[in-house]
Amino acid sequence: MTIGTDSPISNSSQNPSWEFETQLLHAGISHGARLLNLSEFGSFYSRFTNACRLSILPSLMCSQCADCSVQPTVNVLQNRMAELEGGVAACGVASGSAAVVMTMLALAGAGDNFISSFHVHAGTFHQFGTLAKQMGIECRFVDSQNPVDFEAAIDGKTKFVWVESISNPGNVILDFKALSLICQNKGIPLICDNTFGCAGYFCRPIEHGVDIVVHSATKWIGGHGTTIGGIIIDGGTFDWGKHTDRFPQFHDPKSKLWERFSHRAFAVRCQFEILRDTGSTLSAPAAQQLLIGLESLAVRCERHAQNTAELADWLQEQPLVAWVNYIGHKDHQYHQEALKYFKRGFGSVICFGLRGGFQACARFCNALKMVIITTNLGDAKTLVVHPASTTHEHFSPEERAKSGVTEDMIRLSVGIEQIRDIKADFKQAFEHITEPGEIRKVNKGKIHLQNEINRRLYGPSACL
Ligand SMILES: Cc1ncc(COP(=O)(O)O)c(C=O)c1O
Repeated sequence: MTIGTDSPISNSSQNPSWEFETQLLHAGISHGARLLNLSEFGSFYSRFTNACRLSILPSLMCSQCADCSVQPTVNVLQNRMAELEGGVAACGVASGSAAVVMTMLALAGAGDNFISSFHVHAGTFHQFGTLAKQMGIECRFVDSQNPVDFEAAIDGKTKFVWVESISNPGNVILDFKALSLICQNKGIPLICDNTFGCAGYFCRPIEHGVDIVVHSATKWIGGHGTTIGGIIIDGGTFDWGKHTDRFPQFHDPKSKLWERFSHRAFAVRCQFEILRDTGSTLSAPAAQQLLIGLESLAVRCERHAQNTAELADWLQEQPLVAWVNYIGHKDHQYHQEALKYFKRGFGSVICFGLRGGFQACARFCNALKMVIITTNLGDAKTLVVHPASTTHEHFSPEERAKSGVTEDMIRLSVGIEQIRDIKADFKQAFEHITEPGEIRKVNKGKIHLQNEINRRLYGPSACL
C-alpha cells in the first residue's frame, strides 16, 4: 500500500470564526454551487442550487488501499469532528470500541505497556485488561486521582496515558492539565475518551493539553440509537519527531509518516495502516446518520444538561433514593474538576442508589413505562441500566466495588423529553418498590422506610 502525499485527512477549516453550533451543521464540507447567474435564472435554476442534506456519496471503502479508503461521506464526518474538538484530523471507525482498540494498536505492540485510569467504560476495561494482555501489551491501571501516581507507573516502554473525560459510570474526572504536563515531560501522548463530553459541546480535552481524543459516536453524536460508530481525533500536538526511539512506527523508512504528514501523522497511521489491518471501517450510511445526528447536538445537549440538573436535584429529595452521583452537585467529589473542564453544563449522566438494593432496582426498572432499560447512552430518549447485572457483570466483585458499581446503583442517561414526564414515570415506578401510596406516607423517615423495604423484599431478618 502506498499513501499519497495528498492525504485527504486534512484540517478543512473553511471558516475559523464559526461558533460550535454552526460548525455542527457546516464544518468539514464545502458546498459546490455558490453562484446564481441571474440571466440564466429559471432554465438553469437547478444547476445553481445545493442539496441541503449531504447524501451518501457513492464510493466503496474497502480499506485495503489508499485510494478507496477515502470515503467522501466519512471524510465529511472526520473533518467536522476534527473541527468540533479543535484537532487537526480524524479517523472515523466502526464503533467506539474499535476507536479504543485501534488507538492502542497504533501506539503499542508486544512488550510495551500503557497507563489507564481504572475508571473507564466496562468494555474499555476488558479490552485493556484482557485483549491487550493477549497481544503482549501490558495495561497498568491506576486507581487514583493523584497525577503523581500516574507518573510513577510510567517507564521507558510506556506508550501513552488513557483517561475518560467523565468516566462511565463512576463520574470520575481527572486533572487533564496536570496529567498532560506529566505526559509532556515523559514524552508520551495523553489520550482522552471524550464520549461523555458530547463531541466537544461540554468538554474539549485538546484545549487542556490532551493529544488524542476518541469517541463512541454511537452515543450523543448520533443521539438516535440507530447507528454504531466511533471516531479518533488527532490533536496535532504531539511531536512524534522528538521521540523516534519510543515511536518507530512514525519513522518507518517506507511510510515515513512523520516526515510526510508531521502533525497529522497519527491520524494518517490510524486511517491508512490500522484501519486497513483491522477492517474496522465506518460505512457511508452510518457516517450520514451520524452527521444528521450532529446537526442537532447543541440543541439536544442544552436540553440534556437542563433536564439532568433538575432531575439530579429532584432525585435527592426522593425518599427511596439513597444517594445521587452527579458532577454538577457542589458537594460532588469531582465538582471542582467539572467546573474547570466543563462548560455549558455537566453532561447528562446521573447514577443513583435505590434503598432496597438489587431487588428494588429490578422492580423499579421493570415498572418504568416510558424510560427505556438499555445499556446504551446519549440517546435523545431517557435510558436506564443496572450496571452490576449488565455492563459490569464480568467484573470480579472487587473490581466492581472499586469501580463504584454497587448492587443498588442505577445509571441514568437523561433524555430531552419534557422533564415532568420523566419525573412522572420515575414516580410511578418508585411506587412499585413498595405498596402504592406508601412512599408518601413514610416520606422522610428513611430508616423506617429502609426497614419496610427490607422486610418486604428479604423478610423480617433483613431489618436494620
Ligand atoms: C466511554 C465509552 N467509550 C467507548 C464505548 C464503546 O462504544 P461503542 O458502543 O460505540 O462500541 C462506550 C460505550 O458505552 C463508552 O461509554
